[in-house]
Amino acid sequence: MDDARTRPHSSEDHAVEDWRRILGILADRRSCRDFDGTPMDREVLAEIVRDGMQAPSSCNQQQWHFIIIDDRDLLQRAHDISGGNHHFAECSALVYLCFQKGWTHGNFSVVQSVAGACYHMILSAHLRGYDTIWNAGIGDNQALAELFGVPPVFEIMGALAIGRARPTAPAMKAPRRPFDEVHSWNGFTRPAHTLYPVKPAKAYPYFEISNAANPFAVWDPRGWSWKSMGDFRGYAVWAKSPLAGVYVSRRQGEATAAELDLLPEMGPGSTVVELMPWGGTYSAEIRRRLDPGVELRLAELSESNLSFVMERLHREGFAMERTKGDVIAGPALPYADASVDAVVLPQVLEQMPEAEAMLDEVRRVLKPGGSAVVSVRNLDSEYGDHWSEVESRGCIPNQGPFTPLSAETVRKWLAARFTPDLEQGIGTAVSHDATIVIDDGRYGCRLYAGRWHAA
Ligand SMILES: Cc1cc2nc3c(=O)[nH]c(=O)nc-3n(C[C@H](O)[C@H](O)[C@H](O)COP(=O)(O)O)c2cc1C
Repeated sequence: MDDARTRPHSSEDHAVEDWRRILGILADRRSCRDFDGTPMDREVLAEIVRDGMQAPSSCNQQQWHFIIIDDRDLLQRAHDISGGNHHFAECSALVYLCFQKGWTHGNFSVVQSVAGACYHMILSAHLRGYDTIWNAGIGDNQALAELFGVPPVFEIMGALAIGRARPTAPAMKAPRRPFDEVHSWNGFTRPAHTLYPVKPAKAYPYFEISNAANPFAVWDPRGWSWKSMGDFRGYAVWAKSPLAGVYVSRRQGEATAAELDLLPEMGPGSTVVELMPWGGTYSAEIRRRLDPGVELRLAELSESNLSFVMERLHREGFAMERTKGDVIAGPALPYADASVDAVVLPQVLEQMPEAEAMLDEVRRVLKPGGSAVVSVRNLDSEYGDHWSEVESRGCIPNQGPFTPLSAETVRKWLAARFTPDLEQGIGTAVSHDATIVIDDGRYGCRLYAGRWHAA
């Protein structure tokens, strides 16, 4: 019998015969966020976790502990604590990844060890035909510790969800960066656009940075290049799967509908452009509202966003013949002069390194009488105060850096290029509400929005 303890160390002579095939199978693994909820044999689950124990661990201390949850009620509780990761309630089991604190802390060795075990379990499950997703987003650690009876000297660092994908789960893997971007030989080199802007400092101590507090974050998009912005947004959109309904913000509430009520009537043969759709939340709503004969063009900075949005729209059930994606590198739009009936800019001007240059382009491509449908997060609002005092203190969100704009500034930018049809404020609270304000109070609402037309 083959014994791993006595087998010679590997060399080409000892290579596993079909290593290329096996690596090919492993490379096909992708995260699943759409499980079918069927139960799994406990013996198989135990074998997968046991496989994980073959991973190396710092000082061989194996200070890990794996809590396997396959009870439906507990899975539902885990889902609720996670803050609504629906895959927590639909997977067959969650393996909570824990470690004992107090040993091998240098360079996060104990965390590295558990991570190695988790990935080994993922590969084991994959080879056995099961689907997985690794989750750091597990919610309140204290609530979980109480639920599972985890002693305080143990940390819960994540959860591995295992199960079977629904047949309709997206069959796409998140794009990988080009190899040249992420490796260098005998020293550190990396392309400039993948080194994201940070505030200048002598050092960036890890423990001075958290999700809620990042003193080095550059939120002002003017501090970013278009290329860095596209790079960041294009990979980060894959933090979720391109499923129908993904990235619909609870904080945004009914405001999306109010913003898109500003779309003009358009008949078959018209062309609408949406700028920087990121994960396609507005794209889905725009497509739903448009006549099927209207062409919708989505202009984004990265092909990665477009492939995500196209798959998402497909899963929302739209016929895709008249929905097209266009990669842009900056404010130059790939459309002829006076060729577009409407351009939609839903909360994106505040994400742009050169917002005014983009508005010049919008004016260029709009037909005479064509509409610019614009909404922006307003700095001169309660939300603007919240952004300044709370939100902007943290890490940049996956949508990329943004800085709310003053409604007055945007009004002037638009007035210099277009004629207003309708101007309004949307939302008087910091979040959620979609109150429409049309008097002067509109300049103090969460969103400043409206429709303008080109002369
Ligand atoms: C440490 C770690 C934590 C993760 N946490 C989450 C999470 O909380 N929620 C989630 O949906 N995906 C999570 N993921 C999955 C990643 O988003 C995913 O691996 C990545 O987008 C690449 O996609 P792929 O796994 O399909 O190749 C996590 C992955 C890792 C490695």
